[in-house]
Amino acid sequence: MIEIAKVGDVLPGGMMFVKAGERELCLCNVNGEYYAVSRRCGHMNAPLNMGTLDGYILTCGLHNISFDVRTGKSLCPMVPHYMPGAPIQSSTVDNYMGWVEDLIKHTTICDIKTYKAIVEGDSIKVDI
Ligand code: FES
Repeated sequence: MIEIAKVGDVLPGGMMFVKAGERELCLCNVNGEYYAVSRRCGHMNAPLNMGTLDGYILTCGLHNISFDVRTGKSLCPMVPHYMPGAPIQSSTVDNYMGWVEDLIKHTTICDIKTYKAIVEGDSIKVDI
């Protein structure tokens, strides 16, 4: 077990980037229970600690794919930022955003790795 943080470093409902050896993890506090998951999104490697945490659901800030921090399973397909048919400012932006959405919808979404996190005294440790 490797210490990755102290109790109180991350408040309930919060997340933080931590390192465990060479691994980058995202430590999540769900109502006082700690969950450690891979920091990198299973879609295109965005840092998940920059997303949002709502209960057990961690949502990536880049393309809004959600993961359950208890299992690492992805929960939904990508929610596009670009909504076909929405009013647009220019055909150039429309063409570009359409191209980006078409590109990323063909990208595989992988589940994220989870790590067992425990509290010992005032330390939060993970099993790597
Ligand atoms: S990189 Fe996280 S949803 Fe695309």
